[in-house]
Amino acid sequence: MTATTDLVATADQLVATGQATIEGAGTLTELEDAERALLGKSSALNEIREAIKTVEPADRAAVGKSLAAARNALEDAVATRRAALSADARAASLVHDRIDLTTGGRGYRRGHLHPVTRVWRELEDVFVGLGYKVAEGPEVETDWYNFEALNFPPGHPARAMQDTLYVKLGRPEEVLLRTHTSPVQVRVMEAQRPPIYSVMPGRAFRRDTLDARHSPVFHQIEGLAVDRGITLGDLLGTIEAFIHALFGPDINARFLPSFFPFTEPSAEFAMTCVFCEGKGCTVCSGTGWVELGGCGMVDPNVFKAVNIDPEEYTGFAFGFGIDRLVQLLYGVDHIKNLWDGDVRFAEQF
Ligand code: FA5
Repeated sequence: MTATTDLVATADQLVATGQATIEGAGTLTELEDAERALLGKSSALNEIREAIKTVEPADRAAVGKSLAAARNALEDAVATRRAALSADARAASLVHDRIDLTTGGRGYRRGHLHPVTRVWRELEDVFVGLGYKVAEGPEVETDWYNFEALNFPPGHPARAMQDTLYVKLGRPEEVLLRTHTSPVQVRVMEAQRPPIYSVMPGRAFRRDTLDARHSPVFHQIEGLAVDRGITLGDLLGTIEAFIHALFGPDINARFLPSFFPFTEPSAEFAMTCVFCEGKGCTVCSGTGWVELGGCGMVDPNVFKAVNIDPEEYTGFAFGFGIDRLVQLLYGVDHIKNLWDGDVRFAEQF
């Protein structure tokens, strides 16, 4: 038989050494190891519990009591130490993982819109300011909208001025990449009755050879005003107003008689060359003027194609190249610089 006093003394001894080990644990992991060693299945405390069987039955209660007291003391010590270590760990993480929201970020470099997009939007703003609405139409058009409704019958020589790219769809030469934004005039007049004041920006395509001012893909903005009593004076005043809005009052517009099947009379309009301020330079071929686009009074045949009575209404239309305008505004000597995708070019603006 084992002596009761031996077991009780061992339990007391275990509490003393165990408390020291627990207090000495420097981290939560060390504490868990100590807890397992002191209170786990193969702990000395458990051995005492096993040994109770070998004590006189009358004394077993006393051993059990001191065993329970020892376990409670050790468990209390573990809980106290765990609370202290957890508080330390939290305090340390507050120091180490602290994020200083007041230090500035690394900062992203902001991009900006391509100059053509910027001028496109500026033009829309100018015309919206004059009371115009903005409309758009498809880039793949039918011969009807691009030519016929605009008074270019099949075989008309004016078609030759717009080298066309056809799409293999429908009958031969029926579907094409629009050569100008003028077909949107027809679509707008089909969709609504006068009064109409619309601008129609968009992309156009021609089988043009690339040179300083021509590209096979380019942008135009079309303008259309249809109302009672619209005159050529309104057309000239509107074009001058937008040129002054974009370039200031010292830059003027010039109109030269021209021909377009869908306007009568027709004119080409040019603005003072911004590079030489009208004195004559290589950009304007010594003339002091740079051609921007075409314009004129809407031909009665176009009104008839969209069922607007030419006896009741008159109108004007104009269309000019946005790329060319950007070249003039930003001093870009070759149109290809706008489109060959070199970010160093776009970054300059
Ligand atoms: C037209 O395209 C007519 N639709 C303009 C018009 C509209 C006249 C309404 C009357 C009433 P034109 O082919 O001249 O006209 O082109 C107009 C402008 O588009 C040119 O002055 C030029 O600024 C621009 N442009 C034409 N072809 C190119 C090209 N290949 N590359 C860059 N810009 C071009």
